[in-house]
Amino acid sequence: MHQHAYMSGFANEFATEAIEGTLPVGRNSPQKVAHGLYAEQLTGTAFTAPRGSNRRSWLYRIRPAAVHGPFERLGAADGTARFHNDFGDGPVTPDQLRWDPLPMPADDQPTDFVDGLFTMAGNGGPQQMTGMGVHVYAANRSMQGRFFYDADGELLVVPQQGRLRIATELGVLEAEPQEIAVIPRGVRFRVELPDGSARGYVCENFGALFRLPDLGPIGSNGLANPRDFLTPQAAYEDVEGDFELVAKFQGHLWRADIGHSPLDVVGWHGNYAPYKYDLRRFNTIGSISFDHPDPSIFLVLHSPSDTPGTSNIDFVIFPPRWLVAQDTFRPPWFHRNVASEFMGLVHGAYDAKAEGFVPGGASLHNCMTGHGPDAATFNKASNADLSKPDVVTDTMAFMFESRAVIRPTSQALAAGHRQRGYQACWEGLRRNFTR
Ligand SMILES: [Fe+2]
Repeated sequence: MHQHAYMSGFANEFATEAIEGTLPVGRNSPQKVAHGLYAEQLTGTAFTAPRGSNRRSWLYRIRPAAVHGPFERLGAADGTARFHNDFGDGPVTPDQLRWDPLPMPADDQPTDFVDGLFTMAGNGGPQQMTGMGVHVYAANRSMQGRFFYDADGELLVVPQQGRLRIATELGVLEAEPQEIAVIPRGVRFRVELPDGSARGYVCENFGALFRLPDLGPIGSNGLANPRDFLTPQAAYEDVEGDFELVAKFQGHLWRADIGHSPLDVVGWHGNYAPYKYDLRRFNTIGSISFDHPDPSIFLVLHSPSDTPGTSNIDFVIFPPRWLVAQDTFRPPWFHRNVASEFMGLVHGAYDAKAEGFVPGGASLHNCMTGHGPDAATFNKASNADLSKPDVVTDTMAFMFESRAVIRPTSQALAAGHRQRGYQACWEGLRRNFTR
């Protein structure tokens, strides 16, 4: 068994081989590849994308990716697909929305990662090449004899409960709650559950690939540092059997027979590869004088749009941190944005809500929908002793924020785990006006 390890850096030009002498030297596509392997290029951006954003890798593998049976539709034909990109085109409610965690499947309903995905919301789509799909998953068994790839977008996976072992074509990623994993568009993988079950969130990015933000006046360090991003070393499987390849293509799932493991890449080089990041390594920066900064100060990764400064997706976290601002309401004040916010909670408690927003749960506050602290949090923060710093511990919340309205799916609106009384959390905000 090959012992996997990681390489450090964000979208570096990596080179890795599980068998010495696999990678060709001085060229990408030699007439014959060492060890009888096939050469295959996997391209994640336009061929002519500027060098700074151009992403591709060369894979040297036992069989090319083209070797599999014909695809046929999987499951969705009867209209009961849970994992899709149907965000509707009718009216969308401006209500504040919140959900409890997606229930775990019953023990007698074996559900793997792909079966366990449930689409909550989204905008745009793979055909528009902008927007995102927001999904949650709850699974109770490893993918067995089954491999998956998403041709529609890269997948940002946010485990909330239970570790994931993600065996990909380019190597093995292990991700636990408070870490994230990003699997590039098109990369084939299998998800195993070392703890027997797992739950979490997935952001499917149809737009420009996730990248680290520019830091402006922050300088050359801070927020998520590039060296904390880890990409797996090459690791391959040489296995034959009656397996299934599942593809997500243009919003629908397809399946094909495949007679071997497609995770058969012995060596690869390039800058288009999966990676993981430990959110606990985020260097949190905030106000040390007064006022609550905008959440962009907590930006981990973003998918830019073609409008400068206006992201297709911002992936933002709210990690443990000190609150020291003076004469300041320390949680976020009430606000309305042009941007739309889907929030989740990985761990602990979120400091701007007293109750109801639980680990594994989610909320959605769309464009110009008013929201903010509930009445209990308002009262507490309005009367807090600001002569002392306050430390927020034991928490990890996050936000998938988008320039476009995040449309909840009909199954999310109808779900039994939706909190229909969510708006009541602001009812206790009384009129305090005096003159
Ligand atoms: Fe907000």
